[in-house]
Amino acid sequence: MNIRLLPLLLLAAFGMAVAAEVNYPLDAPAPDGRRPGGTISQSLPAPAIANEENKDLKRERNYPEQPPTIPHSISGYQIDKNGNKCLACHSRANSARSQAPMISITHYMDRDGQALAAVSPRRYFCNQCHISQNEVKPLVGNSFETIDKLLQDEANAPAKP
Ligand code: HEC
Ligand code: HEC
Repeated sequence: MNIRLLPLLLLAAFGMAVAAEVNYPLDAPAPDGRRPGGTISQSLPAPAIANEENKDLKRERNYPEQPPTIPHSISGYQIDKNGNKCLACHSRANSARSQAPMISITHYMDRDGQALAAVSPRRYFCNQCHISQNEVKPLVGNSFETIDKLLQDEANAPAKP
């Protein structure tokens, strides 16, 4: 076989594999996710964006390393290369005036754990990790149990022989 034909052959084989993909009927029911009901070919309107809670009430963290959810509204707070509204209250220098909790030491660390003088670039875009609190029902079920519950269960379990 001419070796120069090989790429062409491979391409043809790939094309056939793509063409053989399952074709779902357009009226098949769509998976129940963010927009339940309807068929896979239908575009349903997105649900309305839920209101942010603005009660200054912290929620429990599920584990110590969890980024705390934001207990106040953040609508209109700008974060870009020109400025960071969050740091106007949460930076080391501004937290005394604003009485907002200062971002913790991990926000000053580079990826090698070295503490920097200023906020680390990897912690600059706060919303990558912190999300505002909304009064909504969870989209999917969740059987997560905190470590406290697991330790409690273990302590209560009958002693192993
Ligand atoms: C006007 C000042 C101000 C601004 C701006 C601000 N915060 Fe806050 N933030 C606070 C205060 C004060 C608290 C303490 C709880 C409360 O009063 O809501 C707080 C609490 C928090 C907490 C909870 C901390 C914890 O220990 O549970 C997080 C997370 C947070 N803010 C993130 C943000 C992010 C992200 C932004 C930007 C999108 C932001 N904040 C902008 C003042 C501010
Ligand atoms: C890469 C993820 C990440 C980013 C980005 C990030 N944080 Fe955090 N943040 C965390 C985690 C994880 C914690 C909890 C553990 C810790 O302190 O590191 C936390 C804790 C906090 C706390 C509570 C501090 C305390 O002492 O309890 C505040 C307030 C906060 N972050 C604000 C911010 C603000 C404001 C920004 C943006 C300038 C930001 N964070 C960016 C992950 C992040």
